[in-house]
Amino acid sequence: MTINTIIDTLKREIDSYRFNHSLNVMETAEALARQYGADIHKARLAGILHDCGKNYKGEEARRFVKRIGYQAEEVEIRQPKLLHGIIGEYLAKEMYGVTDEEVLGAIRWHTTGKAGMNLLEKIIYIADYIEPLRSFDGIETMRRIAFEDLERCIVYCSESTIKFILKKGVLLHKNTVDTRNYSLMLIKDRNENI
Ligand SMILES: [Fe+2]
Ligand SMILES: [Fe+2]
Repeated sequence: MTINTIIDTLKREIDSYRFNHSLNVMETAEALARQYGADIHKARLAGILHDCGKNYKGEEARRFVKRIGYQAEEVEIRQPKLLHGIIGEYLAKEMYGVTDEEVLGAIRWHTTGKAGMNLLEKIIYIADYIEPLRSFDGIETMRRIAFEDLERCIVYCSESTIKFILKKGVLLHKNTVDTRNYSLMLIKDRNENI
């Protein structure tokens, strides 16, 4: 499937807010890929498809991942929104014909991040956060840091997620904590080596 066919198909599959958000993530991911020397086509592809699994909610999401043989963690079962990366990865492969493992990984991990993300995974994680439709306290700083220092931006994004989750009083996925700690350790190592 060409990216234009994917865009046309996706437009029919998801609601218009989610579709516009996906277009924005695609454009933002492209800008970040140019800044950091990542593959532009892969960044666009992962960006447009990152939320393609978002239609499946609650019990439907639980059933979906069970059917594809994913062993969901307790936190994910209780907070099924966390499953849309897994579902998205599956749909990207089966419905949109994506075979590139980097693109699939970026879709899979975009919600929580994980320790030791590759460049494309980092770009999609951040693009999802800073795309133009997003508005919250600190977003301007986040947008600036995104183009200056990817690692610092990840710390900023994951801390913002953690604060939001604590405020809401819902479950926190351990991968979000790992994402934050891992990037923070890289920054500390880097500073010690100067
Ligand atoms: Fe998402
Ligand atoms: Fe998203």
